[in-house]
Amino acid sequence: MNTDIVFEMTSHSTEKENTAIIILGASGDLAFKKTYPALFGLFKNDFLPKSCQIIGYARSEIKLDEFKKRITSKIKVSDEDKAVLERFLEICTYCSGSYDKKESFQNLDKFVTNLEGEDDRKKNRIFYMALPPTVFISASEGLKENVYSKKGDNRLIVEKPFGKDFDSSRVLSRALSKHWKEDEIYRIDHYLGKEMVKNLMMLRFGNVIFGAVWNRYYISNVQITFKEVIGTEGRGGYFNEFGIIRDIMQNHLFQILSIVAMGRPVTLDAEDVRNEKVKVLRSIKPLSIDDVLLGQYTRSADGKNKGYKDDEGVPQDSYTATFAAAVFNIANERWDGVPFILKCGKALDEAKAEDVPGSIYPGLARNELVIRIQPKEAVYMKVMNKEPGLSNAAVISELDLSYTDRYSLSRIPDAYESLILDVLKGEKSNFVRDDELDAAWKIFTPVLHQIEKEKIKPELYEFGSRGPASLSRWIENHGYKRT
Ligand code: NDP
Ligand code: BG6
Repeated sequence: MNTDIVFEMTSHSTEKENTAIIILGASGDLAFKKTYPALFGLFKNDFLPKSCQIIGYARSEIKLDEFKKRITSKIKVSDEDKAVLERFLEICTYCSGSYDKKESFQNLDKFVTNLEGEDDRKKNRIFYMALPPTVFISASEGLKENVYSKKGDNRLIVEKPFGKDFDSSRVLSRALSKHWKEDEIYRIDHYLGKEMVKNLMMLRFGNVIFGAVWNRYYISNVQITFKEVIGTEGRGGYFNEFGIIRDIMQNHLFQILSIVAMGRPVTLDAEDVRNEKVKVLRSIKPLSIDDVLLGQYTRSADGKNKGYKDDEGVPQDSYTATFAAAVFNIANERWDGVPFILKCGKALDEAKAEDVPGSIYPGLARNELVIRIQPKEAVYMKVMNKEPGLSNAAVISELDLSYTDRYSLSRIPDAYESLILDVLKGEKSNFVRDDELDAAWKIFTPVLHQIEKEKIKPELYEFGSRGPASLSRWIENHGYKRT
């Protein structure tokens, strides 16, 4: 067994030549903050197809110069990269139009065709819907009917949220599948593009030492934690409708859970991987309200940071949770009886997303394997060690693989960079399949409806604190005891 951790390095050879990337909602927050910077990262490292055009599309009338200025304002470049940025901007154009009018889409088609040229080469098109979910359906229909390339491959990238519950997710899936084949649809959960989430499979299935103990006989609990120091910050209107369970737990944390818990896939093929993830999700019962703790942040103790209800668009009587902890049991041979404790929250004391797949040593302190997804990517194992010297006392020490110390990468690519590259290559294992969505929504829908119907009040916690005061007790009551 080769014990080296091998980074997945992408080859340039499989990408499609002559591809147009069309970003719908290009005037919005996601496009400027994530999509364009990610595309620039790919361009700079020569991962975009040789003949690539990037077309921004939105209703706002924006002059091309102004649009390029906005793109530039979100991309950090060193002096030596300024020329690269100039070359990148040369392939960026903008076309305005609506998301529900045939003529607008026909105009977009002409715009794209004009850039592609009329030669005989394949004309591949990627449509990135950086749009509010209310226009997903009309936009996807308009694109299929009017802008779909008849001379090449077409791919549709859809951003979360994929519905609000099981039924609305099904409505969206059905509407998309009326026009688009499942293998053309790429549902983004950007956590699947994060380096450490991608590394989970390698860690689990590339190391015999972990494979052997990855089960209920050796692991006492698994904790997956997402902590954000910022609040909803101007996204209160969106957030109030969705809440933290839909925003983070049902998608980002559940994707991590399913990779941590799944069985070994037959191959690394996307369908084999996603089959295993679906099996895990189908072994989890719908979440009960007794297994959930909800919280909502208030103004910070020093009054410097606003409370959730002070954010624009949040009603004063809002009971939307900005923090949630929940415990799940996976009723299969490997995991039955091992609590999977998931926690996520905004306005907490430190920004951290971690995955702790538990303990394998009885007596003394348990071992703990910590996989830190962000910030400062790391894998470390807390082990019992003899105190050096004449003492025989046991001390907890760490076998530590911190990425910045171990690897000489100048930076780790952003999740969106990695996922857009997957789309260009037609690699689907890091995207969400429709039955994965169904299975995840079945687990969360009853409790979400109950919270809404009964208006269950979240426990208040101060901005910048560790979360609701009852959290430690709640975790102990749900199967985790410190050793
Ligand atoms: P925005 O609210 O910024 O919307 C994007 C663009 O869509 C706007 O610039 C606007 O362009 C158009 N738009 C806005 N509201 C409407 C409306 N009611 N009807 C029609 N068009 C509208 O969204 P984001 O960029 O923040 O997010 C886009 C998608 O990505 C969403 O699904 C979001 O949930 C998801 N997402 C966003 C993240 C983020 O960090 N922002 C993170 C993860 C996912 P115009 O008026 O010019 O047409
Ligand atoms: C998004 C959520 O999906 O993920 C946001 O809508 C959250 O509320 C964000 O802030 C966190 O992503 P990241 O990559 O910053 O951890």
